[in-house]
Amino acid sequence: MKKFPLSSVVVSDIRSEQSADIERIAEVTQLAFRNAAHTCGREHSLVNALRAAGALTWSLVAISGEEIVGHVAVSPVTVSRSGGDWFGIGPLSVLPRCQGQGIGSRLMESALSRLRGAGARGCVLVGDPGFYARFGFQSDRTMVVCGVPPEVTLSVRFCQCDDGGSVEFHAAFSAAMAGPDGTADANLPPSLTRSRPRDDV
Ligand SMILES: CC(C)(COP(=O)(O)OP(=O)(O)OC[C@H]1O[C@@H](n2cnc3c(N)ncnc32)[C@H](O)[C@@H]1OP(=O)(O)O)[C@@H](O)C(=O)NCCC(=O)NCCS
Repeated sequence: MKKFPLSSVVVSDIRSEQSADIERIAEVTQLAFRNAAHTCGREHSLVNALRAAGALTWSLVAISGEEIVGHVAVSPVTVSRSGGDWFGIGPLSVLPRCQGQGIGSRLMESALSRLRGAGARGCVLVGDPGFYARFGFQSDRTMVVCGVPPEVTLSVRFCQCDDGGSVEFHAAFSAAMAGPDGTADANLPPSLTRSRPRDDV
């Protein structure tokens, strides 16, 4: 049976981040991933690293009342055989108490609509098709992220093109993923670097 939240959260706006939002974005990201099925525990550092590198194409926040309740990052990716701009989406974060109320979907739709409007050729992410298929993402074997299973390498095209090949996320991804010993799966978005059972508490 579907669970309904005790109190619903009304999102009044999806807007670009402002400098006063930065700490809260890190907090929301950390809280969202705390009990996530796949996490490296450093998704908030990744957002900060993308920002520091000037690689946050969009950093969108979902506002409820005066509060930031969700966030999504968009950054450029390189696709080895491409005639234009491709982007990566993620991390995508919604406060645990606000999940399941359409906020993640609104952030995704907003990011995709901005990318389309900006003339992007498409975008790529590593994630669960159970969630991302609803936005048009599918496993496309012509898009290859080194070390990532094709079934979770998802992409959506905004144009009819035969772009494809090797996909590289911004270097901030590998830097944020590097553990204390400096080792990491090259080029793999952090949310899938370590898997653990979902904590439903
Ligand atoms: C994933 C996440 C962003 C979704 O945001 P949300 O606001 O809870 O999602 P929405 O309310 O828009 O959509 C809910 C739907 O997504 C599904 N869903 C949510 N998380 C999912 C996941 N990890 N895998 C598959 N489906 C998922 C729900 O079952 C629900 O499906 P339904 O509409 O068929 O009932 C949010 O749950 C979250 O922050 N999770 C922790 C961080 C994370 O895993 N981020 C994604 C990886 S980068």
